[in-house]
Amino acid sequence: SSYNIAVVGATGAVGREMVKVLEQRNFPVNKLKLLATERSAGTRINFKGETIEVQVTREGVFKDVDIALFSAGSGPSKKIAPLAVKEGAVVIDNSNAFRMDKRVPLVVPEINPEKIFEHEGIIANPNCSTIQMVVALKPIYDTVGIERIIVSTYQAVSGTGKKAIEELKKQVKEYIKGKDIESSVYPYQIAFNVLPHIDIFKENGYTQEEMKMVNETRKILNDPDLKVSATAARVPVFYGHSESVNVQTKEKITVDEAKRILNKASGIKVVDEPGRLLYPLPLMSEDDDNVLVGRIREDLSHELGLNMWIVANNLRKGAALNAVQIAEELIK
Ligand code: A2P
Repeated sequence: SSYNIAVVGATGAVGREMVKVLEQRNFPVNKLKLLATERSAGTRINFKGETIEVQVTREGVFKDVDIALFSAGSGPSKKIAPLAVKEGAVVIDNSNAFRMDKRVPLVVPEINPEKIFEHEGIIANPNCSTIQMVVALKPIYDTVGIERIIVSTYQAVSGTGKKAIEELKKQVKEYIKGKDIESSVYPYQIAFNVLPHIDIFKENGYTQEEMKMVNETRKILNDPDLKVSATAARVPVFYGHSESVNVQTKEKITVDEAKRILNKASGIKVVDEPGRLLYPLPLMSEDDDNVLVGRIREDLSHELGLNMWIVANNLRKGAALNAVQIAEELIK
């Protein structure tokens, strides 16, 4: 059988990727509905050799939809997802709106696919930085346990959306032409800079992005006491988030053993041959759907510590691909 699918936010950076992933993975689509706002209604997007016109998201539009993939931001999700559920669709939501809601499963198919079937209409797709980290850490977590995670991220601008991709391009051109550099998406210039600031600041001094990594990791691994300390930075990269991760395990694991179990795990590719200068790079993740793990080495300051460098395409495994994989599990 095949399904009627809607993509809400179809003209956005993640939404366009969702359409591509549905096509590339040959998801059994009967009818594809592409939804956004009046701003982009009428935009034509290709799907399997057909062009589909983007429509305005309005009441009634979900009545014949089986699965709605949302990537329009938290505000729109909060408003529109409950409507889609009422009209009979199952929502897979890429925003932050419902992730920590107790009634909403937060799913990475490699880790907790069984949670999908507890849904009451909405399934949440985790934050991009969280997804790639938990995919890489799960085999270690299952083998020796994890006491504490310390992570610093180097996140691509595409995670902010299409406007941020345009802003980085524009600033690079302005720089080359010797013009004044203007910023509107970020509070500071992003070209040739690094901003230790993603999403809003919370009262505890952390950003919301950092707290997502703490809280979502605990929920996905079903370990409410897991210690996680995160610093999230935006870097002038278009696609692919990188992460420096230090884990303190409960029992000792050697580098060789860690590489062996990571190599066996699905959704992971170990890229770790320093002798040949092979290590994960964001540019590598542009056409590789795996979570890339490398620079695996012992923490010389702690006998239970392990360091690694984790890279994934934030629009694919970090967003669109994970959402479509959830849909694939849902229809199995
Ligand atoms: P539009 O193109 O009409 O503005 P990005 O994350 O790359 O910024 O993209 C956001 C996506 O979400 C766009 O497709 C945008 O559509 C869509 N969007 C924003 N607000 C809404 C809304 N209230 N309802 C439906 N789609 C929305």
